[in-house]
Amino acid sequence: MTFRIAQISDTHLSDDKPFFVDNFVRIGEALRKTRPDLVLNSGDISLDGASSETDLMAARALHDGLDLPIRYLPGNHDLGDNKDSPSHGEGAIDAIRRARYLSHFGADWWTLDVPGWRLLGVNAQLLGSDLDAAGYQDCHITAAVAGRGLRRLALFLHKPLFNRTVDETAVTGRFVNPGPRRLLLASLGGVTPAVVACGHVHQYREIWSAGAHHVWCTSTAFVIPDARQPRYGVKEVGYVEHLFGPDGTHENRLVRVPGVPTLDIAEFPAAYGPV
Ligand SMILES: [Fe+2]
Ligand SMILES: [Fe+2]
Repeated sequence: MTFRIAQISDTHLSDDKPFFVDNFVRIGEALRKTRPDLVLNSGDISLDGASSETDLMAARALHDGLDLPIRYLPGNHDLGDNKDSPSHGEGAIDAIRRARYLSHFGADWWTLDVPGWRLLGVNAQLLGSDLDAAGYQDCHITAAVAGRGLRRLALFLHKPLFNRTVDETAVTGRFVNPGPRRLLLASLGGVTPAVVACGHVHQYREIWSAGAHHVWCTSTAFVIPDARQPRYGVKEVGYVEHLFGPDGTHENRLVRVPGVPTLDIAEFPAAYGPV
C-alpha cells in the first residue's frame, strides 16, 4: 500500500498575531477532504514559539482541530536557531526552549516505518548544539539508519541540507551550515537518504544531488520577497503531497489549494518587523 503524506510547513501560527491562521484553516479543510495517511509539519509551526508559549499552544490547538494523524518537527521559530546561524531574531536553541516545545509537540526526532520506507525526522536546530540532547539525537540517527533493514530511507528536517551540493562552505541562516551538516552526515554513517524533505525557505523546489532527491516544501502562510531572498523554486503557498510506495518508489507534487492566497511577509510588518 502506498503511504501518502501531506507535508505542511512554516505555518507560523499565533493567537496574538493571527495573520496566517486563515490560510492554515483553509488548507486544513482541503486536507480533511483528501485524508492523507499522515500530516507532517516540518517546522516553524508557530510564529514565535521560541519566545512565546502561547504561540505554541495556539499552534497545537489548530493542528488538533484537523483531527488527522500528525507528526511534527521543530523549526527555528519554535525553539530557537542553530548556535552558528545568523539570527532571524529568535536567538539560539536552549534547554528551556526545547523542553517547552517538547511539552506541546512531543519528540523532536523520531522514526516511522511504512511499507518499503523508514522515515526519519530530525531536529535541524539541534545539529551542532552543545546541549546533551544533540548527542542523543546523533545516536538515534545512527541507530535508525543501521536498523532500517531493506527499507529505503527518507529524511525529514526543517532546513535544507544545502543549496546545490553537500560540500558548500557558506555559513547562512538558510541551510544547514557546514559544521552541523558534517555531523549529520557522520551520524548517517555514509548512507545517502533516497529522499530529503525540508521546509524553512518558503519555496517549493526539488533537486537531485549526489543520489538524493531533495524536496523543499513551501509554506502554508507566506513567501519572502525577491529583494530579500533569491528565487530557488516556486514562491507560492500550499503543501506537498508525497507518495511512498512499498516497492521503494517516491513521488511528490506541490498542491495549491484554491482560495488560499500567497501572502507576502512584507505586507505583515507586525509579524517579524519591516522587511
Ligand atoms: Fe518559516
Ligand atoms: Fe525556519
